[in-house]
Amino acid sequence: MLTACGGPYPQSTLAPRSDFGVAIDRLFTGIFWWALVVFVVVEGLLLYSVLRFRHREGGPAPKQHHGHTALEIAWTLAPALILVFIAVPTVRTIFSTHKAAPDALRVEVVGHQWWWEYRYPDLGIITANELHLPVGRPVAVDITSADVIHSWWTPALGGKRDASPNHHSFLGFRPDSIGMYTGQCVEFCGASHANMRLRTFVESDSAFEAWVAMQRSTPAPPATGSVEEAGRQAFQRYGCIGCHTIAGFSSGTIGPNLTHIGGRTTIASGMMMNSEEHLRRWIENPPAMKPGAMMPSMHVSATDLTPLIAYLQSLK
Ligand code: CUA
Repeated sequence: MLTACGGPYPQSTLAPRSDFGVAIDRLFTGIFWWALVVFVVVEGLLLYSVLRFRHREGGPAPKQHHGHTALEIAWTLAPALILVFIAVPTVRTIFSTHKAAPDALRVEVVGHQWWWEYRYPDLGIITANELHLPVGRPVAVDITSADVIHSWWTPALGGKRDASPNHHSFLGFRPDSIGMYTGQCVEFCGASHANMRLRTFVESDSAFEAWVAMQRSTPAPPATGSVEEAGRQAFQRYGCIGCHTIAGFSSGTIGPNLTHIGGRTTIASGMMMNSEEHLRRWIENPPAMKPGAMMPSMHVSATDLTPLIAYLQSLK
């Protein structure tokens, strides 16, 4: 109980930051109070009976009752009524959160072992692991999977949804506070299930527009003779182009789109901050950092690694 008092709780559903999150929180609070009333009444009657009718030396044998119609009707009706009080708001919340607003921003989420692909079909953006949303605007999220069953969850923004292959789940919400909210995969999906994290950035309209403009731009090719250009050649030579898209340069789609990798705050699906040191360790041996990672060590030589990292970091 003491450890629960520590905080902070970055992934608490009890601090909702969207209309969907608030609806679930209200439902939870209502059901909590009903459950508390039931607990107090049941435990109270139990304690009363245990004490009042306890065995006493030399006392008479207790009087036996066989059936009490009024009591039986009462204890059938009371729970049924309580269930109605719980079911009505629950069903109402399910229906109210299961339709997209007509002006919603459409986002497609695709779970992969072990990272998240994000697509904005109306904006022509494809990115990974870090979702950006404008504050106050409804979002219609379409969730699916490219391999096994995952589950997408940003607790502050609302309920979790399974990402199943060949199936599309809907999740709709309207974020109401600017901030960065962490989340993660919540369906066991293999060795690095716990390393399948995510970040959702809720931004002001202007910050979101700036992000969109940046994502839609094609990075300029590095200057001839620059270290970044050497890095780009290494990116090609080591076969990175076979799995990763960099707009205007490569078109692989097995791994995350790296067009703007330099602008992300984390790498390896939210596992590590995006720094030179982490990129180095990651490229040297991905499965050592992330068990089961599909990306093998490409045995990049030390002289190629530094330019390669410089190139990736230049992709803002
Ligand atoms: Cu993906 Cu657990």
